Amino acid sequence: MRRSVVAGMGRYLPERIVTNAELAGRIDTSDEWIRERSGITQRHIAADGEFTSDLATHAARQALAAAGMAPDDIGLIVVATSTPDETFPATATVVQSKLGCTNDSMGFDVQAVCSGFVFALATADNFIKTGQVDTALVIGAETFSRILDWNDRGTCVLFGDGAGAMVLKAGEGEGTSEDRGVLSTHLHSDGNLHDLLYVDGGPSSTGEVGVLRMEGREVFRHAVSKMSAVVVEALEATGLKAEDVNWFVPHQANKRIIDGTARKLGVGAERVVVTIDVHANTSAASIPLALSVAVDDARIKQGDLVLIEAMGGGLTWGSGILRW
Ligand code: UT7
Repeated sequence: MRRSVVAGMGRYLPERIVTNAELAGRIDTSDEWIRERSGITQRHIAADGEFTSDLATHAARQALAAAGMAPDDIGLIVVATSTPDETFPATATVVQSKLGCTNDSMGFDVQAVCSGFVFALATADNFIKTGQVDTALVIGAETFSRILDWNDRGTCVLFGDGAGAMVLKAGEGEGTSEDRGVLSTHLHSDGNLHDLLYVDGGPSSTGEVGVLRMEGREVFRHAVSKMSAVVVEALEATGLKAEDVNWFVPHQANKRIIDGTARKLGVGAERVVVTIDVHANTSAASIPLALSVAVDDARIKQGDLVLIEAMGGGLTWGSGILRW
């Protein structure tokens, strides 16, 4: 059975770090409130003239180097983002050009907000499994700082900019949960919950980019229940148990959501990868950023079972199980 095996990870964070204290000097908030309610201590913010495609390209180069591959070895580039450089073309095609690809491979964006990386991974995995491509670059990249209302303390303190990238390549497995590669992906959305988390503009509605609007408390309520349910769905589909999971790498939206979900699933804190403290919520970039950190510090090793999950605007939510 064809499997999509992880061949390399990469990440990039903009140089500029904005601390909670700096935000408290600008708006009515405090370091204490942000830490206690979200677990965030700082976020990275892209420089003027630094675009989502730049962040994505840095992360992609690192992932390609880790995989020992050249840009032209890649058959598919999927960028998960809600903050594309331009309305069109897809940021993936900009990245393709910035990487120097000349092989006419395919590139497109996936838009599922904070669940974007899980949706992009599922997309690339299916292209590989059907044999349409042998290799894929899956990137989550965001400059959410560009779509925040910096006067809305309920949202602007929560987000940051960054990018993470994963190289996948086709491998052969036995069709069991012992195989290396992507073992499952489960995706869902419910457009009736639009008003809980959206951007109040766009090319076809206002003609403006708009800013993020969120009913934080309501989103929080849905987050733990939906993400736990989609993880249970994944475990049942693969015949695995929570105790089989070596590393739980959730979307990084709020430390309390991460803790609540891990507790509900019975995954001990020592097996949870947390980066929200230093990255904040980087939307589609948060999972590949966290994966890259945990690979580099040698927590995630070949053969480990890794569980990812996310929920975002739409609402959209999903999970994935990978054997590294
Ligand atoms: O990745 C996409 C999905 N997004 C999420 O998963 C985010 C989900 N939601 C959350 O993480 C949390 O709901 C928040 C962190 C957004 C808020 O935490 P909360 O415990 O739900 O607080 P709250 O919204 O109930 O607000 C509590 C109080 C309010 O004051 P009153 O009405 O009690 O007087 C807010 O006005 O905190 C106030 N508040 C703030 N105070 C200081 C809201 N934002 C701030 C702030 N600084 N930045």
